[in-house]
Amino acid sequence: MAFTEIFSSEENYKNASPEELRLYYASKASVVSHHSTPTVPPVISNIYKQNATQYTELSIMAVSEYQGMLQNFVIGLIGAKKILEIGLFTGTSTVFFANGLQRNGVAGQPDSNGYRPIVSLEISEEYANVARQNFIEANVEDYIDVMIGDAHESLVKLADQKFDLVFIDADKLSYLDYYKTIMENDMLSKNGLVIVDNTAFDCVTRLISAPVPVDDDAPLLNIPKSYHSEWRDVGKALHEFNEFVRQDPRVEVVMLPLFTGITLIRPLLN
Ligand SMILES: C[S@@+](CC[C@H](N)C(=O)[O-])C[C@H]1O[C@@H](n2cnc3c(N)ncnc32)[C@H](O)[C@@H]1O
Repeated sequence: MAFTEIFSSEENYKNASPEELRLYYASKASVVSHHSTPTVPPVISNIYKQNATQYTELSIMAVSEYQGMLQNFVIGLIGAKKILEIGLFTGTSTVFFANGLQRNGVAGQPDSNGYRPIVSLEISEEYANVARQNFIEANVEDYIDVMIGDAHESLVKLADQKFDLVFIDADKLSYLDYYKTIMENDMLSKNGLVIVDNTAFDCVTRLISAPVPVDDDAPLLNIPKSYHSEWRDVGKALHEFNEFVRQDPRVEVVMLPLFTGITLIRPLLN
């Protein structure tokens, strides 16, 4: 039952399962109004509207408001000052990050190596241009360097930099490569954190749990249409990534069953 339907009639309310009610209680609308004190940048709602009109089905690539709030909170928790984002799109998650850094007292200016507090990697020049405009409207442009190009190559250029938070949210087939590059080059600060998005996408869960072979054309709920034709490859790549990280002795990892799966990874301190 959709959240909005639950309270539309007494019968719906009675028929709602405890799980549905819990989800409703913790839903975005409920949390924003009653149960959290998030810092949601006002410009964010404009970005969501723009994403929906300009990019229709691709607009789901942006983090939800709820996820953005959580990530913003986490930035405060770890006192992050430097962030690397792999996968910019129109800059929704980036504006949340910039907002979190502002709250941490970080100034929006380049460090001694010439990089601003957030470095975001994006292959599409079009998305990067839209994002830059959003940053100006959100008044956070001083906080963000956008590197246009294939993230594999951009990461090599950044290999001698350190980040407190790395957000992996670009092409799913490359997650493992991105992660290995970050770890092998020691790009994470001592108390750093890696957040990885979409680690329990539909294409992973159906791949590993289906009791019978799954039809390639069967509809997928929560992966963008652009991934539909290659869902098996994406699912395998994400599963391989999840398994690799779980067995990586250098880190501690928790996968949260939130959104489409979000994995938190932190280095083990020796
Ligand atoms: C899921 S979206 C990022 C969403 C963004 N983090 C947000 O929450 O608003 C993934 C982005 O990664 C970009 N991308 C895909 N492959 C890439 C690559 N090899 N290098 C850099 N960016 C890539 C896509 O163009 C897309 O904009």
